[in-house]
Amino acid sequence: MFMGRGYTIFKQTLVVLSLRARFASASIIDDARFIFAFGDSYTSEGFNGKGDPLLPQNAVCSTAGPNWARQFVDMVGHTQLINLAVTNATSDNGLLAGPPADFRSQATTFLDFVTPEQVPWTKSNAIFIIAFGANDVNNSYQRGPGNGTSLYSQDLDSYFATVERLYAVGARQFVFNNVVPFDRAQIGVSLGLAKQFKLRESILEFNRQLSGKAASYCSSKTDIKCSIYDTHTLFTHIMEDYRTLGFATPNDFCVSYAARTGCDVLPADSACLGPVSAYIWKDDFHPSWAADTMWARALVSQLSSSMFL
Ligand SMILES: *[C@@H]1O[C@H](CO)[C@@H](O)[C@H](O)[C@H]1NC(C)=O
Ligand SMILES: *[C@@H]1O[C@H](CO)[C@@H](O)[C@H](O)[C@H]1NC(C)=O
Ligand SMILES: *[C@@H]1O[C@H](CO)[C@@H](O)[C@H](O)[C@H]1NC(C)=O
Repeated sequence: MFMGRGYTIFKQTLVVLSLRARFASASIIDDARFIFAFGDSYTSEGFNGKGDPLLPQNAVCSTAGPNWARQFVDMVGHTQLINLAVTNATSDNGLLAGPPADFRSQATTFLDFVTPEQVPWTKSNAIFIIAFGANDVNNSYQRGPGNGTSLYSQDLDSYFATVERLYAVGARQFVFNNVVPFDRAQIGVSLGLAKQFKLRESILEFNRQLSGKAASYCSSKTDIKCSIYDTHTLFTHIMEDYRTLGFATPNDFCVSYAARTGCDVLPADSACLGPVSAYIWKDDFHPSWAADTMWARALVSQLSSSMFL
């Protein structure tokens, strides 16, 4: 279900899994004070994965404006974002090439620096939001035949082994973001139909396994709340309804905006179709801050319901 400007989104898998959903008494948003974000350039605000993530970060964003994580905490209002995401990161760089600061390493950084002495987080006031997969798929889909079934299975086993390390120190509230359909951004469009199709199938396979492994991980614990956030469906709807939603193009980007690396919204360039907010895609691979507004808003809405896996 996807509704106009309110952007409530309900994914099919979530509806199926809701058969055994637990109903919490209140939304996890109400009690949230800390949001811990793990991921790649879609989420990063410039942390390079080295040293203390609590120190001021570099203000580097892939969205030419505040990204979904920043907008999410701004919308919630009473939470602090601690952002461990690193550009180009994969879940496990032993399996899928990427910088040293993969999810495993981001979790180690969390364990080393974000201790309850430094940040008074508890089981019930912290939400762990995890958004990996875009680089995992981009760095692998051209390799070998098929849609990456076995590789993504190993990669996601590693992912949930990392989640388990967070669980071991008290993390109990998790959001797992799936991968956006970037096969329809220029990085995919420019490949030609055959490779674009392979990319699409690989993204779908990664997301299918993420849903399956999240459901089995979460049902193996009696004391956690999990939510899968379906950015894939959200971005599909945004591209399909782009005109109604105020965007000028479903998949183009403007070169002068692609070169922007900061987190502030800068003035429009008259050579483009409009300001950055006229674009769903900031460049060939990354969403713009305006598309991320919808991501953040729909995430607030999903977490405000009391339904979890
Ligand atoms: C991301 O990592 C891959 C694999 O290590 C590398 O080929 C690519 O150049 C990197 N991209 C950026 C933007 O750092
Ligand atoms: C995506 O993968 C291609 C092929 O490996 C690589 O050249 C490119 O740098 C990657 N793009 C990003 C944004 O990491
Ligand atoms: C990926 O390929 C496997 C094996 O052929 C198949 O079972 C699976 O359904 C495919 N995934 C998707 C999302 O189509």
